[in-house]
This record gives sequence, structure tokens and C-alpha cells, in this order.
Amino acid sequence: MCGIVGYLGRNSAVPIVLAALKKLEYRGYDSSGIAIYNQDELKIYKEAGKIFELESALPKPELTMSNIAIAHTRWATHGEPNKKNAHPHHDKLKNIALVHNGIIENYKQLRDILCDHDDQVEGETDTEILAHVIGYFYNKHHSLEEAVRASLHLVEGTYGIAVFCKDNPKQMIAARKGSPLILGVSKDAYFLTSDVNAILTHTNKVIYLNDNEIAVLNEDNYLISTLDNVPVDPEIATIEWEASSIEKNGFKHFMLKEIFEQTTTVRHAFRGRLYDSMATARLGGLNMVPSDLRKVKRLQLLACGTSYYSCLLGKYLIERMARLHVEVEYASEYRYRNPIIEDDTLVFVVSQSGETADTLAAMKEASAKGARVMGITNGIGSTIARESDGGVYIYAGAEIGVASTKAFTSQVTILFLLGLLFGRMRGISPVQGIEYIKALRKIPAQIEEILKLNDKIREIAAKIKDSTNALYLGRDLHFPVALEGALKLKEISYIHAEGYPAAEMKHGPIALIDENMPVIAIAPKDVLYDKIISNLQEVVARKGRLFTIITEHDEQIEAMSEEVLIVPKTLSELQPILTVIPLQLLAYHVADLRELDVDQPRNLAKSVTVE
Ligand code: G6P
Repeated sequence: MCGIVGYLGRNSAVPIVLAALKKLEYRGYDSSGIAIYNQDELKIYKEAGKIFELESALPKPELTMSNIAIAHTRWATHGEPNKKNAHPHHDKLKNIALVHNGIIENYKQLRDILCDHDDQVEGETDTEILAHVIGYFYNKHHSLEEAVRASLHLVEGTYGIAVFCKDNPKQMIAARKGSPLILGVSKDAYFLTSDVNAILTHTNKVIYLNDNEIAVLNEDNYLISTLDNVPVDPEIATIEWEASSIEKNGFKHFMLKEIFEQTTTVRHAFRGRLYDSMATARLGGLNMVPSDLRKVKRLQLLACGTSYYSCLLGKYLIERMARLHVEVEYASEYRYRNPIIEDDTLVFVVSQSGETADTLAAMKEASAKGARVMGITNGIGSTIARESDGGVYIYAGAEIGVASTKAFTSQVTILFLLGLLFGRMRGISPVQGIEYIKALRKIPAQIEEILKLNDKIREIAAKIKDSTNALYLGRDLHFPVALEGALKLKEISYIHAEGYPAAEMKHGPIALIDENMPVIAIAPKDVLYDKIISNLQEVVARKGRLFTIITEHDEQIEAMSEEVLIVPKTLSELQPILTVIPLQLLAYHVADLRELDVDQPRNLAKSVTVE
């Protein structure tokens, strides 16, 4: 949610910063801007729309002029997404440029106290006020560092900021509270970024700034300290990901590439974690010995968006496999609800990015209440990874498409492993444990089979692409899959879609069914097969258009359906990893056939770092 980049070094900053900014475009893409230093002047260029608009608007000579630059791609919180409200912002005297990710909650008070009446506050954004406040203190102290410190002491809210002043174009200042900010260090330059992926082509040596820390970057050195000026000795981390993992590799969209990557990413999630001789899972990152795990009587799984749906599925899995009580909650609700945590409660926060503001806040709430909190995340070195008491990486590689796909199946794989781990302590026999392990090992090849349905799914997508509504139905473990399928469709195709437990349909949504309503049902042959057939009969009786995801040899549902998609059969606990994939592809093709921006759907952002 908003991406910021900074560069200070010996090369031309603009091309470097623009290339990095494009890699952050998934965080927000309604406007963008850049500030540079050129011939004693601070120059700011901004445009509404995507980054290519900014790039085309930049005068060519500017491309090589500056060795310092800060840039921003925006997801609007305060003020419309237009050129005026785009970042960078500057102070009254146009000495200082600022980019910001987060929300300055008390910006109105700051404006009333510190901005002169003649201050030309042009936009409606909280950030613009912060730029003016920093300018106010700069005029008093004549030190940018002092000005930033003084200003941030007054700020309520969250921020990741990068600032520089035209009086010293060899210095850049960054600070963080609640919004991610990373300092990249190379031999001849410093980089600032909201996400390491943006700078990996330049360096893999990074420092994750912590909350309430300020970094002062000069041409040949950097200093990190707390907001109260206590020096910090930072740890320099080395990132192992390769920069090439964020290319489309011949696919039309990142989302399609990421759907196809699931044969590999699911394997990465369980690789090295199957303990065959004990028929269980090994999750060393939890930092908990078996006797500690044994004491756990209740799990709380907290997340947002698609990660929340993987947690819902986790509840079905873990309760079934381990007979362990699991509560699932939206992180945004949990954080303000004063939740009950008992001594035997273990909390998991699940987040692809590891940076979602509500999930972080839920983690802090649980920690403050004394809970042991684990993270399940894809974000190597993310805030959740660093601030949790332990956890499990899903190792899915960078996910760029705003609609999450491969992270979902990897999260579910990890939750399955948790089910196995706890289950083996609480009733699963070694024979059953081995059965689970064998079935899991077959999943990547079964995903491969499902991906062969891609062309057929596009044909089905063509049949529903002009619908205005869609209903997704599933029972048991496939109810969360129905929710996730519906979310995918609405996120990227803007067709209203609802996921429902198939049997609940008769308590409301059935009223919507007519010959125009596509109903997408997930109905593999399992214990509730006969029950779901009755539910689907109710759809057919009302002339609903039935599209089904079924398993092999199912003539009965085939005969009822306008179209079927057949997925391989596996153990019922693993079946959702297979049934969700056709739904991801369906949403993708509907959106693509509607000629929509699949990877960057309107109003959404990949990483929501504001509450
Ligand atoms: C945003 C994204 C979703 C994602 C959700 C939670 O809404 O668009 O794709 O599922 O945030 O993100 P997280 O990184 O915490 O899993």
C-alpha cells in the first residue's frame, strides 16, 4: 500500500528509482511522483495514473541529472488520486521533498498549529502537512535530521518516510513507524524501499528498519538511531531470492504465472518438512519442543483477505486432523475486540506479505496479552517474520499479482502440516500419518494435471464473463474454497460474487437464482457428496446455470451441469488445494476476457499497510 523508493549514490538516480518503483507498483498505482536535485533546485514531477505516465512526462535531461532521488507510487487514503495529491510533497519554501507510506492521523491538528496561513497547502493529504511541518522545524534548526526528529515526535499514526533537502543533496533521511522500510546497502550507493524485491538487482544486503528508527544516509556512511537519538547497531541481512523471480517469464500476467507456479510452490512449502520415520511434520521455526506443543489446547488464526480464507480452511483441517480447537478471526476485528487468550492458547498470524497493518496490530494485541505468537508468511524478513515468536515461511517466492493465488495454496499446505504435527500428538496413528505424507507428495503432480484444463476453463469463462453476479457453493472444507473462488472473481473481474455453504443457499441466495445466475459448485466425491447433490438439484430446479468442480467418474453431477471441470482425487483434507486452482483460473480468464487489468485491479493494493 503505497511504495516508496530512494537512491543516494554516484550514478544517475532517476532510471534506478523508476525501475525500482515499477516493481512496487503492486502496492498502489493511482498516481506516482519523483523528486530530484538539479542545478541547485529541488524538482518534483508527479502524474496521476500508472508509473509509465510519470516516465513519459519526465523531461529527458532530468534522467541523468541527479545522484539523489525519492519516488512514490500511491494508493490513496486521504484525498483523491490525482496529480495534486501525488507524492513527493514539499515544504513551504520548496527546500524539502518527502515521500510517505502510512497515515498521519493528527494531520489536521498539525496543520492548525504549525502551518502559517500563507502556507500554500495545495492538496488534501496528510503527507503534505508533514512536509510543511518538517520545513517549519528545518527553518528553526537548520538541520534536516533535527527537523525530521522534531516533526516525528509530534506525529500520531504510521509512517515509512524518505526525505531530502536541496541544501544538502548528499544526504537522505528515512524513518519508520508501522510501515515497512528497508535500507539497501551496496558498495557505492544506498537504497530505500518498501519491499526488498524492488532493489534486488542492485544489492541483496539490507537493513530492516524497526519502528521508531531513523536512518541518516550520507554519501559515504549511514547512521541509524532511535527517534530519541540512541544509536542502533543494525544487522545487515542477506536476501537469497533471485531478482529474476519477479519477471513474467512469458506469461501474459503475473497472476497467470503465479497460478502455474503452484506445482513448485506447494512443493517448496512442504520440502524438508516431512519427517517420514515419525510420520509427522517438522516445523523447526516454531521454536517449540513437543512438550510445549502438547500443552496447546486452542489455536487462534488471524489474517485478512485471502489469508483469512486459508485460515478458515486451516480450522477445518486442524480440528479434523488434531481434534484441537481452532478459532479464526479477521485481524481487523480481533485487534479492537479485547480477545480472550488463555495460557494454553497459541496464536498464528497468517499473511503473504507479512506487512498487513491489521494483521500486525492483531499480532501486537495478542503479544501484549502474553500470548506466544507465530507467523506464517511469505515475506522473508517482513515485520511479522521479525516480530513474531517463531513461525513458518511458505517459501512461495515473490507474489506480484494483487489477487493472491500461490500464497493461498502454500498457506494451506503449511496449515495441513500443522494439522499433521498436532494430529500425530493427539490421535493420528503412524499409519495414517504416512498416508497423509504420501498424499501430500503427490499434490504437485496432480496440480500439473489440473493446469491442463486451462483452455477449457477459458471457454467456460467466456460463458460467464458477461454475468453481473455469481454464486459459489461448497460444503465442509470446500466452503472456504467457495469463499476464496468468489473473492478472486470479484477482485479482478468486478463481477459481484458470493461464496456460500451449499446447504445455506436455501436461506437466502436461492432467491437470486434464475437462468442468468452462474452457480459454481465445488462438489468432489466425499462424505457429503449426496448432500451437495440435493443442494445442486435446487439450483437446477430454478434454472440456475450450474458449473461444477468434481472428481473423476461422477456421471450424476456431470448430467446436471452445464460444464464440469474434473480434478484428480486425493485425501479429503488435501482436496481443497486441488479444487481451488480451477477457480483461480476461472477468475483470471473472466477478467482477461473482460480486458481488465488483471494484475492491478482498481482500488486494490497487494500489501495493505494502513488500517
Ligand atoms: C490485500 C491483498 C490480498 C491479500 C490481503 C491480505 O487485500 O489484495 O490479496 O489477501 O491483502 O494480505 P496478506 O499479505 O496479509 O496476506
